[in-house]
Amino acid sequence: MAEQQAPHLVVFTGAGISAESGIQTFRASDGLWADHPIEAVATPDAWRRDPERVLRFYDQRRDQVRRARPNAAHKALASLEKRGFAVSIITQNIDDLHERAGSRRVLHLHGEILKARSTVDARLHYPLPRGGIRLGDLCDKGSQLRPDVVWFGEGVPHFGEACDIVAEADLLLVVGTSLAVMPAAALLEHAPLDAPCVLVDPEARALAPPGTLGLAQPAGKGVPALVRHWTREGRLWLPETLLGEA
Ligand code: APR
Repeated sequence: MAEQQAPHLVVFTGAGISAESGIQTFRASDGLWADHPIEAVATPDAWRRDPERVLRFYDQRRDQVRRARPNAAHKALASLEKRGFAVSIITQNIDDLHERAGSRRVLHLHGEILKARSTVDARLHYPLPRGGIRLGDLCDKGSQLRPDVVWFGEGVPHFGEACDIVAEADLLLVVGTSLAVMPAAALLEHAPLDAPCVLVDPEARALAPPGTLGLAQPAGKGVPALVRHWTREGRLWLPETLLGEA
């Protein structure tokens, strides 16, 4: 008899899953982009014009990430994987909180703040130099190192891989994202037609795309609640009682 495969949960996360860990989201009125214009810190042009400012901005992001700890949502997802569910996480976040919680299959669509890369060759990744990246830190091709993050106007190197993962989902769980950024937001369209999709976000009622269920709760409450249902029954499903409460 063929061995039964564990149900595959694909989780797509955004800044909201790390909000309760103390990491700022982007588009809230007090979010990151309110104080730091995107064009000044997160585009290739910004890097050309004022690399020191860009490096300072990412130094601050790194400090915030280092002070943060995984919250109940990160931990619940890691615990589900430990219990034998196949869990793939695709995150837009540049923090390492999923990994620190214990999740093993994590794909970073927008890069990782705790790594560096070459300016001329995106395939050349490096551990972060001691004390952060400074002007004059060079890659093997002799060009300046930069944060290993994807800026506005740049390609998303892992997007194809992410689409393939989503296409294998039995259930798609989307957490804490305004779905405002492309191509990331288009990932949802790659889910199999029969795979349910649920969005956990305090703004879920306004944000959930057609065909997606919304659980209007913070990640630290909504995600552990779903995970408790799934582990209790050993299957992935969307409990109507829970979603009805939303
Ligand atoms: N739990 C869950 N969601 C939350 C919480 C919380 N405790 N607090 C806030 N949120 C939600 C907000 O309601 C919002 O929908 O998190 C979402 C954050 O949205 P954005 O700030 O737009 O962040 P995100 O969707 O991750 O942005 C995508 O944009 O600029 C970029 O590259 C950056 O990866 C980022 C991308």
